[in-house]
Amino acid sequence: MTQDELKQAVARAAIDYVVDGEIIGVGTGSTANFFIDELAKIKDRIKGTVASSEGTAARLRGHGIPVFDMNEVESIAVYIDGADEIDAAGAMIKGGGAALTREKIVASISQKFVCIADGSKLVETMGKFPLPVEVIPMARAAVMRKLAALGGQPRLRTKAGGDEAFITDNGGEIIDVAGLSITDPVALETRINQIVGVIAVGLFAQRGADVCLLGMAEGVKTLSF
Ligand code: A5P
Repeated sequence: MTQDELKQAVARAAIDYVVDGEIIGVGTGSTANFFIDELAKIKDRIKGTVASSEGTAARLRGHGIPVFDMNEVESIAVYIDGADEIDAAGAMIKGGGAALTREKIVASISQKFVCIADGSKLVETMGKFPLPVEVIPMARAAVMRKLAALGGQPRLRTKAGGDEAFITDNGGEIIDVAGLSITDPVALETRINQIVGVIAVGLFAQRGADVCLLGMAEGVKTLSF
């Protein structure tokens, strides 16, 4: 099976977690895109969605699926999203697609977080995938120094093929921190959150996944945390 087929398989399996008549939180990325395409097939069963990025909102609307402003919503029944890495406790690195802050916000009011990923994303210790940190642009250099002091190699994310900083949906910039071995994700998340100028860190440990659907050659494996 190709990686895309594995992603498609978990996207299909995630439909079982959709709660009829409710608002569904929808993540960002290639796996989430497969999920959106599956959700479109049962769109009449749900009230609508809250999107974790402008890209996701556009794809949902393109399928005729209602997208609510999160300020109009008190609680989300289930949030379905991909991950860049996930550990055995359900902690994740997210933000490869630059949507980490909105993903964290949507996850914060979701009753259940279902992570969908191909099996390669499950790791023993997170950190091989550079940890994304969204920052206020004027704080970029100061935050980079502090991230370097934590033992990482911070690098500003740039627009494809150039030196210009990549700008998020929130007007922030992204620093990708390589070389971390994340043995205590909850503690590292707290520590990075405390750096002034950080908007959000792509460590989802304090609010990790409740369920992870992993696409493997032998089928979809379900991990519950
Ligand atoms: C988006 O910012 C990320 O958190 C994605 O959920 C993550 O990068 C996974 O993306 P893929 O499904 O494309 O691997």
